[in-house]
Amino acid sequence: METTAKFIIDGKTYEFPIVTGTEGERAIDISNFRRLTGLVTLDPGYANTGSCKSSITYLNGEKGMLWYRGIPVDQLAEHSTFVETSYLLINGRLPTRPQLNRFSVMLNDNSLVHEDMRAFFTNFPRGAHPMGILSSMINALREFYPELPERSEDEEINLRFARILSKVRTMAAMSYRISRGHKVCYPRHDLSYCANFLNMMFDSPVNPYVIDEELVQALNVFWILHADHEQNCSTAAVRLVGSARVNLYAAISAGICALWGPLHGGANQAVVEMLQNIHDSGGDPAPFIARAKDRNDPFRLMGFGHRIYRTYDPRAVILQKMCSKVLRKVRRKDPLLDIAEKLREIATKDSYFIDHSLYPNVDFYSGIILRAIGIPLNMFTVMFAIGRLPGWISQWKESMDDPDWKLHRPHQVYTGPKEQAYISIDER
Ligand code: CMC
Repeated sequence: METTAKFIIDGKTYEFPIVTGTEGERAIDISNFRRLTGLVTLDPGYANTGSCKSSITYLNGEKGMLWYRGIPVDQLAEHSTFVETSYLLINGRLPTRPQLNRFSVMLNDNSLVHEDMRAFFTNFPRGAHPMGILSSMINALREFYPELPERSEDEEINLRFARILSKVRTMAAMSYRISRGHKVCYPRHDLSYCANFLNMMFDSPVNPYVIDEELVQALNVFWILHADHEQNCSTAAVRLVGSARVNLYAAISAGICALWGPLHGGANQAVVEMLQNIHDSGGDPAPFIARAKDRNDPFRLMGFGHRIYRTYDPRAVILQKMCSKVLRKVRRKDPLLDIAEKLREIATKDSYFIDHSLYPNVDFYSGIILRAIGIPLNMFTVMFAIGRLPGWISQWKESMDDPDWKLHRPHQVYTGPKEQAYISIDER
């Protein structure tokens, strides 16, 4: 197999090395391309561009495979917890029992949010989107809990990350309670990360929340499946903003803003809205599928398609199975799941979707599970954000430690007017 790629430009040949990843994926290293040829490459949406080497997450879009630090995500979903998976992503290896205990203690010890921050939450207008609140509050968090010095010991590094993981979860629950005019429910030391979140969301002085281990497990799986997905839009945003050597809180805040979009994390909310629209219009998905196929209609089937996966998203496969389990547990039948299944069945047999390699992605079923747990629609993307935190943190950490790291500053091909003279306002 060739180890270099040749480019012939204006009759001159240039050679560039081909780098090979662990699983044999190959890339042409064009880091010297502009210096040698004077040209830049043009790749809108970076669909063909690798922005970094990374040892965190591997995904194979053709085979529908996803690994964190080499471990298939279905094994983690079956055997691990979100806290253990977070440790794995951040530290590169599964923790020993003492390491996991220490990390869990750190999460518990850092679960409270400074009381002065409550004023911010209460002063957002009612109806403010929780993603907007969360991205602002993460920046505010830094002012209350300043960063550690650049050169810190492992213990301090884990403390810095545990603080963010724990407080963001508390803040998410707080923003929900305050938005409903309810008293904030504080975290409890005796509860696990996921159980604590559910309790902070739903416990009430008049109706104490009964923690159900199956729902806690469902939330663990939901968050494990969202924990990282290599260079997706929000992670690329975290790395790009982080490349200016901004602090971690600001980089994560940028990631949250990117995730909010309906083509990315916001799709989980958009899927349920779409299924509800199908339900309200009589339950037949066919007209929606027809609209999605119509080139003159901007409508897309939400929860379908992915930049990398050309087959089923492995996360959707796990969530699909979990939907029925969770609905059975809460003794609810959700008509939206029936509609989702009907829609999936028609779409996956339709030549448009087959030819375009469009299959259900992670967001297709996740909303049904979140609804069953009792999470309100406008919190769905916040749930995704809490899950993606360990991914953003580990990718940021990797980028900070990367000796080849550079400020992210892409080029462009200018297509505007040629130089022209300024015309004074009276002469225009
Ligand atoms: N419904 C109908 N047509 C679609 C869809 C869809 N959901 N997704 C892509 N297409 C078509 C698109 O119209 C285009 O057709 P043509 O080549 O005939 O013009 C073709 O497929 C390629 O589309 P693209 O937008 O160039 O592809 P992409 O790789 O940039 O898109 C995507 C990836 C996720 C933005 C897109 O599939 C989409 O908009 N899906 C719906 C939103 C969604 O579910 N997002 C969640 C993604 S997974 C979770 C996450 O990463 O956040």
